[in-house]
Amino acid sequence: MKGGVFLKAIRVGLLGLGTVGSGVVRIIQEHQDKLMHQVGCPVTIKKVLVKDIDKKREADLPREVLTTEVYDVIDDPDVDVIIEVIGGVEQTKEYLLDALKSKKHVVTANKDLMAVCGSELLAEAKENGCDLYFEASVAGGIPILRTLEDGLASDRITKMMGIVNGTTNFILTKMIKEKSPYEEVLKEAQSLGFAEADPTADVEGLDAARKMAILARLGFSMNVDLEDVKVKGISQITDEDINFSKRLGYTMKLIGIAQRDGSKAEVSVQPTLLPDHHPLAAVHNEYNAVYVYGEAVGETMFYGPGAGSMPTATSVVSDLVAVMKNMRLGVTGNSFVAPQFEKNMKSPSDIYAQQFLRIHVKDQVGSFSKITSVFSERGVSFEKILQLPIKGHDELAEIVIVTHHTSESDFSDILQNLNDLEVVEEVKSTYRVEGNGWS
Ligand code: NAP
Ligand code: HSE
Repeated sequence: MKGGVFLKAIRVGLLGLGTVGSGVVRIIQEHQDKLMHQVGCPVTIKKVLVKDIDKKREADLPREVLTTEVYDVIDDPDVDVIIEVIGGVEQTKEYLLDALKSKKHVVTANKDLMAVCGSELLAEAKENGCDLYFEASVAGGIPILRTLEDGLASDRITKMMGIVNGTTNFILTKMIKEKSPYEEVLKEAQSLGFAEADPTADVEGLDAARKMAILARLGFSMNVDLEDVKVKGISQITDEDINFSKRLGYTMKLIGIAQRDGSKAEVSVQPTLLPDHHPLAAVHNEYNAVYVYGEAVGETMFYGPGAGSMPTATSVVSDLVAVMKNMRLGVTGNSFVAPQFEKNMKSPSDIYAQQFLRIHVKDQVGSFSKITSVFSERGVSFEKILQLPIKGHDELAEIVIVTHHTSESDFSDILQNLNDLEVVEEVKSTYRVEGNGWS
């Protein structure tokens, strides 16, 4: 070290040069002065793994840096830090375990991997004195993991409610505001680089579930697994659902909810109705936002781009800066703090929420009172109720209800009892309602 500056460059091995990888290269190249100022040494990209060397690329790199052989990168003795942006789980886990065993620090944007194999990778990193950071795995460009870890370190988090999937938020925004068809908007999201290679994970809520598992683990310091997250995607939402919810003053969003009451937690991802005036209802297109409630701080909200090349790469390169600072101080072997508590998940009788339902009923004397008695038998009252004729079906009527808070177990009994009623043609849809009174 000379004059407070490390002269040796930190050398990066990059796995993947797609949407995020290209952004990482651009930020390292274009922000070199700032990186140098922060960590006191230059950052160079030593080797880059791709599938197809001849593919035309956004990134401006010499061809000889590219390789199709992963161990050219992982085993390169000059590489200090591996940045993983290829995606995938099983094979990628093996690559990163090998990288950690070779004492390379790791930065990844891969929530699929961290949600499923995070504990194993974190243990290997610790064993080898390596850093392992994954800020970009949740909400792309929003530094939410560091916020939970550092900014809110002194508080106890009780609830996190987030729009954590850019693709579905983009689709719902366009469906609601521009009445665009689902398939067309999905294609647009893919072409803009938000959607995963297989968009099923986005639209069926699995991508958001992985992010919520990571958030819950960190926010509640509890060993929450992906299987603990209840998941429902957006593919079943109909125009009628959107129109009726609008009529009652709600906006439909795919919301991840992690809530802790005492020592018990619940985590879910589902299409949810928020009052139009709720701050999360104003989060549009590919933007993400995470609402965090702390016992001491109260309500906070973090908003920003949740996907895309440069926003995601910003988080990745910020993790790289954290690694480089640790290397400089000689304090590597770090990650986000390991959970303090064993898993303790709520049962359906402990999970309370308001519910929205659309029911098709026979338009005859007594239908309405039979319906309402199913709810009153369970002690559940209504906040809003609407009855309308159904065009083209003179014999049927549509009843739309928003209940007060009810437990999941009571609500599932109510649905069963409604379906058993002779006057009920069909329960068309149900959605959780959140944020009345913003909490
Ligand atoms: P992408 O555009 O599909 O890029 C993947 C890159 O990895 C490509 O360069 C591809 O090579 C390379 N690659 C994939 N499998 C490979 C293999 N087996 N061997 C060698 N190279 C391989 O993906 P992405 O959107 O950048 O996403 C990367 C990761 O970041 C994923 O884990 C994703 O979930 C996460 N992420 C993405 C976003 C986003 O907005 N896109 C946001 C947050 C997190 P070729 O270029 O030669 O095909
Ligand atoms: N497919 C993801 C999304 C990318 O749409 O949010 C960011 O993780």
